[in-house]
Amino acid sequence: DVRSLQDRYEDSFAIGAAVEPYQLEGIQGEILKHHYNSIVAENVMKPINIHPEEKRYDFEEADKIVQFAKENDMEVRFHNLVWHSQVPDWFFLDKEGNKMVEETSPKQQEKNKRLLLKRLEKHIKTIVKRYKDDVDSWDVVNEVIDEYASNDRALRESPWYQITGTDYIKTAFETARKYADEDAKLYINDYNTEVEPKRTYLYNLVVELLEEGVPIDGVGHQAHIQLGWPSLQETEDAINMFADLGLDNQITELDVSIYGWPPAPAYESYDAIPDSVFQTQADRYSDLFELFERLDDKISNVTFWGIADNHTWLDDRAEEYNDGAGKDAPFVFDPDYNVKPAYWTIID
Ligand code: G3I
Repeated sequence: DVRSLQDRYEDSFAIGAAVEPYQLEGIQGEILKHHYNSIVAENVMKPINIHPEEKRYDFEEADKIVQFAKENDMEVRFHNLVWHSQVPDWFFLDKEGNKMVEETSPKQQEKNKRLLLKRLEKHIKTIVKRYKDDVDSWDVVNEVIDEYASNDRALRESPWYQITGTDYIKTAFETARKYADEDAKLYINDYNTEVEPKRTYLYNLVVELLEEGVPIDGVGHQAHIQLGWPSLQETEDAINMFADLGLDNQITELDVSIYGWPPAPAYESYDAIPDSVFQTQADRYSDLFELFERLDDKISNVTFWGIADNHTWLDDRAEEYNDGAGKDAPFVFDPDYNVKPAYWTIID
């Protein structure tokens, strides 16, 4: 019965959570209804889940989340229409089943590019038309910048890029704009958007796309962050930079890991995490939400990448580096759904 997050930030921005459909039920469903007024799928709306084969879409799981949002008057973020990961292979095979990226003849390359862009258009058209009335924010493209890429614009060298250059990004936004509700907003979403040099690479791409008339409405900052990284100033600068272009900002995948990088050595269990760590995390959350609130005319949504500490992708990451033993604790609810110190600092 504690005060809800959505109520606390009602005047500033929507408060969201990423979910798997099973989390819509029971106590997690109750927490969702109480605290959040926005929702996003952690996995089930990704290309591989929703469009596993060229002629087969699977909307069942995605529909559950959209239905829950409708029943509870929540906003929906759609994550995502285009990504290099969790995308089925069929997109990148030509009609003979050959890998498009391996084609060397310019003529066939041109043909492949046209085919891929056609498939992309169809993919986006089908999904956007289906959820047009339900989705408020679309992650149109996800993670297209890779600061380690070998090209000088740091464009991620995914099959999308290798086959189409940046045309896939333009086609994605243009197609989404064509079929989405006119009030729905279109986002370019990425991680480490706060830190240089990635921030500038993303900024330059966005400027270039805007100059070409590509309909981008905003930048999604994933914000998978740590207790001491990135700095608050870097986060503030990133929001201001994109706002100065006339764009909206959303915090799309917020979690505050209790680890640095790599996440080792790690705590073996939740009970082994000292109280002082939760206190440091609470201070960190406090600073962040103070910043978000101060910039609230530039930020329309703050979404956590999960609900409570019993379910987070960060556990997989910590376990990987610690022989299966790491436990992370990135949210404001503990594994039993009790509020943590971080909850109190962002409520007060
Ligand atoms: O559904 C299958 C299941 O059938 C299978 O038995 C099991 C075995 O590994 O895997 C299950 O799929 C897993 C899926 O999550 C659903 O649980 C995948 O292996 C696993 O890789 C996948 O991880 C997701 C990850 O994206 C994929 O890259 C995480 O849950 C999800 O939190 C994470 O989210 C991403 C955002 O989309 C983009 N930004 C970064 C963020 C964190 O990596």
